[in-house]
Amino acid sequence: MPLKIAAGNWKMNGTAASLGEISALGAALPDPAPAVVICPPAPLLFRAHEIAGPLRITIGAQDCHNDTEGAYTGDISAEMIADTGATHVILGHSERREAYAETNDDVRDKIRAAWNAGLTAILCIGESGEDRAANNTLDIIGGQLAGSLPNGATAASTLVAYEPIWAIGTGKVPTLEEIIEVHDFIRDRLTQRFGVETGSEISLLYGGSVKPDNAETIFRAENVDGALVGGASLRATDFAPIIAALARS
Ligand code: 13P
Repeated sequence: MPLKIAAGNWKMNGTAASLGEISALGAALPDPAPAVVICPPAPLLFRAHEIAGPLRITIGAQDCHNDTEGAYTGDISAEMIADTGATHVILGHSERREAYAETNDDVRDKIRAAWNAGLTAILCIGESGEDRAANNTLDIIGGQLAGSLPNGATAASTLVAYEPIWAIGTGKVPTLEEIIEVHDFIRDRLTQRFGVETGSEISLLYGGSVKPDNAETIFRAENVDGALVGGASLRATDFAPIIAALARS
């Protein structure tokens, strides 16, 4: 069975004052709890890891460079992320694909860099509203998966998050049938490419307007092993009930 994982992507939100949310979340976790990963902005990684360590919460970053070091002003390497104690890194988020023109090739190189540093990559893929309206969803998802995931993926090194772009931060959520269709498709592609043993163990997360009141329904889908949560991960009072719903699923 794939690991159940609730990951929170804080995006460019939060300062040192927000670290208290990690403590509050730790205190509110169910027992047993699924794996919980919080991905705060890079300046908070060290302190977030210190706080999360004793709380059954792990920490992730939101992007990394594909090189190990060098003249890349403003960037951070996977090694630097691992050095903070973080264990995960989100890569290929649609906000980076759009705003920074990251291609599948770029994302693939970054995932390799993450693996080399011992990090687990959270690969994000997802179609735009136009892609879905034109019935191109599975083509887009298949292309992103093939193009941005390097050979050699394992359940320990890789999570795949399906995040329809039109559902991110909009309050719009695909129907359960739509989520099931894409997650089943991703599962098939992973087992074809990496073999049944590996492909069926890689955790598949759904992301896009996951909230306490819709999490239970989303987690009903067989190939949904968790969620990548944006806005509702910023406060422990919102994220804890989502994690509890995953624990019950
Ligand atoms: P929201 O949960 O705010 O829609 O964001 C989803 C997301 O982009 C997580 O990476």
